[in-house]
Amino acid sequence: MMLTQIRLSGLAIACLMSWPVAAQTVPERTDPIVINDGELQLETVAPAPAHLEGALPELYSGWLFRDPGTQAMQTDDFENPGMIFVDQGVDDWNTPDGEAGKSCASCHEGIESMAGVRAVMPKVNAEGQLWSMEDYINDCRTNRMQAEALDWNGNRMKNLTAAISVQSRGMPMNVAIDGPARPFWEQGKEMYYTRYGQLQLACANCHEDHYGDWIRADHLSQGHTNGFPVYRLKQAALVSQHNRFRGCIRDTRAETFPMGSDEFRALELYVASRGNGLPVEGVSVRH
Ligand code: HEC
Ligand code: HEC
Repeated sequence: MMLTQIRLSGLAIACLMSWPVAAQTVPERTDPIVINDGELQLETVAPAPAHLEGALPELYSGWLFRDPGTQAMQTDDFENPGMIFVDQGVDDWNTPDGEAGKSCASCHEGIESMAGVRAVMPKVNAEGQLWSMEDYINDCRTNRMQAEALDWNGNRMKNLTAAISVQSRGMPMNVAIDGPARPFWEQGKEMYYTRYGQLQLACANCHEDHYGDWIRADHLSQGHTNGFPVYRLKQAALVSQHNRFRGCIRDTRAETFPMGSDEFRALELYVASRGNGLPVEGVSVRH
């Protein structure tokens, strides 16, 4: 029974992907996301960055591809189930932990001091390594607080990344792709166009060639990350970027990279750069 289902959905994906590459359907509506009755307005369309010339004509927020009920949840912070976790992240921010007896706030003060950070992550650190926000958080915890590193996919980590991301809501994504970031970006780009798994599908086959198409019961978006971490109704939980990548690669029936791997950091940078110009939406709501 399970097997048949998997086979069928695999077949459905394979059929979809054998369609001519012409889908790229423009969303019917491209309204901004109006949050809390106008407190904040997030554009859902942005010009494609120069490096995407010939690949995407325009950038569309993943929000545009969701059903009206899911969209609505993201327009009101009281309806957005992800906001509970933001509150928990803020509590954690203010709570001392570790041998040094410090909280995040001991050094960074209010979490508003993190405004802008999400828009430029991941980025190369002083040692020349590409780090995701999770790495910066764990560096502070282990080296500055003498506290344990948090699990990449654990609730405390996701709550903290959510609470930090919200501080940048509305600011355009603007990850650096030149200088020391360049080799990581190239690596991520190569991954994006590599066909994985039995279905021999690359990220680009779905999110570049076929956005706007339906795949099973899902409306394919351009696969941007400006809304992460996202609250997924199906999982009733926050989902990190690397977890999403893992799910997408698994759908092609390929072995995947671990969350927090260098491969996923590079992919994260490249995918983020495809969304450069779209406002940070985290925490967004997805089904
Ligand atoms: C003992 C002081 C201290 C504590 C406690 C601390 N940090 Fe930091 N944090 C720093 C310093 C110093 C930097 C580096 C700043 C720089 O280089 O711009 C930093 C950098 C960061 C960055 C990267 C910011 C950027 O723009 O690159 C993040 C994110 C961050 N901290 C989150 C946290 C979180 C979350 C906690 C609590 C779990 C925390 N920090 C606890 C001192 C601290
Ligand atoms: C077989 C098609 C397929 C492939 C291949 C695929 N994805 Fe996806 N992806 C989906 C579907 C379906 C969704 C959920 C609907 C949506 O947001 O597009 C999704 C969602 C996403 C999202 C969340 C977008 C949002 O706004 O919430 C990201 C990010 C993403 N994919 C990245 C990737 C990356 C990176 C790769 C390559 C490693 C990849 N995907 C490969 C089908 C695919």
